[in-house]
This record gives sequence, C-alpha cells and structure tokens, in this order.
Amino acid sequence: MRTTSIINLKGGVAKTITAANMAHILATVHNKKVLLIDNDKQGNSSKLYNLHSYDRQGVADILTTRNPCMEEIIIPTQYENLNLIPCNMTLLKANLQVMLDTTRPQQTRFKTALRSIASNYDYCIIDNAPDINISTINALVASDDIIIPIKIDKFAFDGLAELKEQIDNTKEDLNPELNLKGCLITSYQNNDVNRQGEEWLKNQKEYPVFNTHIRRTEKVDESTFAAMPILEYSKRSGAALDYIKLVEEYLGK
Ligand SMILES: Nc1ncnc2c1ncn2[C@@H]1O[C@H](COP(=O)(O)OP(=O)(O)OP(=O)(O)O)[C@@H](O)[C@H]1O
Ligand SMILES: [Mg+2]
Repeated sequence: MRTTSIINLKGGVAKTITAANMAHILATVHNKKVLLIDNDKQGNSSKLYNLHSYDRQGVADILTTRNPCMEEIIIPTQYENLNLIPCNMTLLKANLQVMLDTTRPQQTRFKTALRSIASNYDYCIIDNAPDINISTINALVASDDIIIPIKIDKFAFDGLAELKEQIDNTKEDLNPELNLKGCLITSYQNNDVNRQGEEWLKNQKEYPVFNTHIRRTEKVDESTFAAMPILEYSKRSGAALDYIKLVEEYLGK
C-alpha cells in the first residue's frame, strides 16, 4: 500500500477535493484498491461520500484506542474498490487525549494501525486539516508521499516554509522515506496572476511541482452539494479531466 498525504497549512486550497477525487479516480478508473482517510474534524471528505455520522467509529478511534478494530473503523463507500475511514468533531478531543497520554508512542498510531491492513489496499490517500497537530503528524509519519495543493493568490505561499520544516523534521526523526511528491496548482484560472504564479512556482527549485494543474470549474462547488466525486457529477468538466490527468502523472512519477 502506497500512502499519500494531501496537506497544506492553508485552508480552502482544495485538499479535500483533491484527496476525495484522486481516491475515486484511482479506484474507478484504474481499478486500484483504495483507502481514503478523512483526517480533518470538519469531516468534509466523509460528507462528500455521504458518510458523515456520529454513530460509528473513525479516525479518532485509531488515535485513542490501544488496539483499534480496523474492520469496524473502515467502511465501504458506494463505489467499488473505495473504502473510507470517516471523521467528525470527535477528532478534536482525540488530539488532546493523545497529547496527554504519554504511556505509549504518540506519533506512530496511524502507522501501526495501517500496517495491519496494508496488504488489502494499493493506495491510501489522507485528507488532512489545515493545521499541524498530532493527527497530521501521525499522517506524515504513516505516509510515503506528500502532495501540497496550492491556490494561487496573495497568500498562496504562506505557511509553506513551516510545512516544509515539519516535513523535514518528520523525515529526519521518524520517517526517512517520506517524499514530497509535488505542489499541485488548484482552482487555476487563465489570467495573469495564475499564469505568473504558476511560472514562478515551476521555476523555483525548492519544491517540486506537478505539470498538471486543476482548472477552476463551478461544477466542483456543485459536486460538493450533490455529494459526488467530480467524475460522477460532471465527467467532461475541466476539473474532472484535470484530476484524471493528475492521477496519471501521479502514477507515472
Ligand atoms: N477546481 C476547482 N474549481 C472550483 N472550485 C473548487 C475547485 N477545487 C476546490 N474548489 C472549491 O474550493 C473550496 C475549498 O475546497 P476544499 O474544501 O477541497 O479545500 P480544503 O483545502 O480541503 O479546505 P479546508 O482547509 O477547509 O479543509 C470548496 O468550496 C470547493 O468546492
Ligand atoms: Mg478540507
């Protein structure tokens, strides 16, 4: 199982849209066995798959339970080959609880839990919160790759240095194999700001950047209301075509 964290300290940059749609495309277009982990108390990935609830277990239980029952925590989505670990506001308390519990390792709880089910999946995609906390650190420790979605605006690069530092620290201390696969330009519009921002990003050397960018398409907003992956909601939309291209680039890299 290859695990990829979708992460950025900035909010609203399309982390959830990217994670939820990459997972869907890997499962339905490429026939891969995929596990999507919603690692954000907002539960947006869970909501996009109509699986947000307070009546079942989720990510919080992996963090706080000594031997979490992964068979109960992982739930199927309505799409073949695609399962989900859901999340809700209970993650807030779980994060605090982990910080107070020093009786066992705090940063490797995802890694240990995922190891037990790794042979059931080809890919695991983790949708992270716009934050660095103990659950995002758990995600980084459990990941092979990182994708950083970026929406080009005045604040696009805020927090990037802090995120890079966190990635480097995780790499050094806990996960030497961790690999920054690339920044992904999302909500791309064909205007001067976006063209110049993309050019700048592709010319700098510190962060790798995906060739594919994701076009801004109103259909994406609509797909969140319909609670459907973009490929199901509007398969000919620019964003759907771009996410298909992105997954091809991701698989080929
Ligand atoms: N390609 C796109 N075209 C148009 N709108 C988009 C696109 N990608 C994302 N959006 C919209 O941008 C908003 C933010 O997207 P999303 O929720 O994925 O961001 P996020 O980084 O996960 O946010 P948060 O930090 O709150 O978790 C949503 O309203 C979504 O519909
Ligand atoms: Mg999100």
